[in-house]
Amino acid sequence: MSDAFRAFVVEKTEGGVTGAIKTLTEADLPAGDVLVSVAASSLNYKDGLAAQGLGNLVKTYPHVPGIDLAGTVISSASPDYKPGDAVVLTGWWVGERYWGGYAQKARVKSEWLVPLPKGLTPRQAMAVGTAGFTAMLCVMALEDGGVAPEKGPVLVTGATGGVGSVAVAILANLGYEVAALTGKASEHAYLESLGARRIVDRAEMSEPLGKPLEAETWAGVVDTVGGVPLARALAQMKYNGVVASCGLAASAKLDTTVIPFLLRGVRLSGIDSVMKPKADRLVAWARIAKDLPLAKLEAIATDHGLAEVPDLAKQILTGKVRGRAVIDVNR
Ligand SMILES: NC(=O)c1ccc[n+]([C@@H]2O[C@H](COP(=O)([O-])OP(=O)(O)OC[C@H]3O[C@@H](n4cnc5c(N)ncnc54)[C@H](OP(=O)(O)O)[C@@H]3O)[C@@H](O)[C@H]2O)c1
Repeated sequence: MSDAFRAFVVEKTEGGVTGAIKTLTEADLPAGDVLVSVAASSLNYKDGLAAQGLGNLVKTYPHVPGIDLAGTVISSASPDYKPGDAVVLTGWWVGERYWGGYAQKARVKSEWLVPLPKGLTPRQAMAVGTAGFTAMLCVMALEDGGVAPEKGPVLVTGATGGVGSVAVAILANLGYEVAALTGKASEHAYLESLGARRIVDRAEMSEPLGKPLEAETWAGVVDTVGGVPLARALAQMKYNGVVASCGLAASAKLDTTVIPFLLRGVRLSGIDSVMKPKADRLVAWARIAKDLPLAKLEAIATDHGLAEVPDLAKQILTGKVRGRAVIDVNR
């Protein structure tokens, strides 16, 4: 039993699923060419779904959720990694189809890993996690579309969430005039501390689209919510503006017209973090290490133990988690 370790395991029951901390051994772990000693994981919207058996993300049980992990290689059959290497994993359906990071050990495929970015600790990498990585991909999509600070303000929706908070901090640090759309009246000071110069009340963007074009307001948008706020943001884009769409916290539906695309040359750029090729991941992580101030990351992050996962999973699905929750799998 010397290789025993703790894991948060979700099992199917008659009434749905139930999750609990269990003791596993390395023999319980799925196949893979790298065994990782996990230092930390994190909480993302998908983790909230997987921990509660929602969203059809998990296909087989028992299951270990946690779509992110950071830690140190224990053993490796891959020439790319050796014992002691610090590594990070996000995406690739880990924590969904495959066992994830809510455990002290994980056995994974080497091609899913990237080296821990220089300048970040494993905990800081998990404070970033999939949400922060996705925020950086959104910022890079705006840049690829020609958005720059001098082109005008950038709107971030779901601003107090994980993706939103990191996007606000990165964009503000890059010199953008950031407007933060939030439903949380109590968190305006938090968003301003991350660098938001304007707060937009969620209610302002929740009335369904009236006319296909509204006043030209945004050079770029990082949208984490979809639905009506996304439809309204599209109608409010400046000429040649870019919207990076990565989330559906409000709705997966988009009821809009093509008029912003035809008359203003607006671009809607889809963002996927799960299947992002490794070369792009390395670029995005290097940008995170360079462009996300660590003091802002500290303000965004909160620390939790494995036993807090069930409560946090409920909170994130109701939009109650602020910023990023780091899960210390060793406490
Ligand atoms: N495409 C990808 O690869 C990718 C990667 C990561 C995440 N995502 C998606 O991006 C979204 C955000 O992820 P996250 O980890 O940042 O989640 P999160 O921390 O829960 O943030 C979502 C935020 O959206 C806002 N919100 C919640 N319910 C809403 C509603 N009904 N209407 C309008 N706004 C609402 C809240 O912010 P305010 O209270 O400030 O308004 C909430 O904090 C999720 O849909 C997630 O699945 C996609």
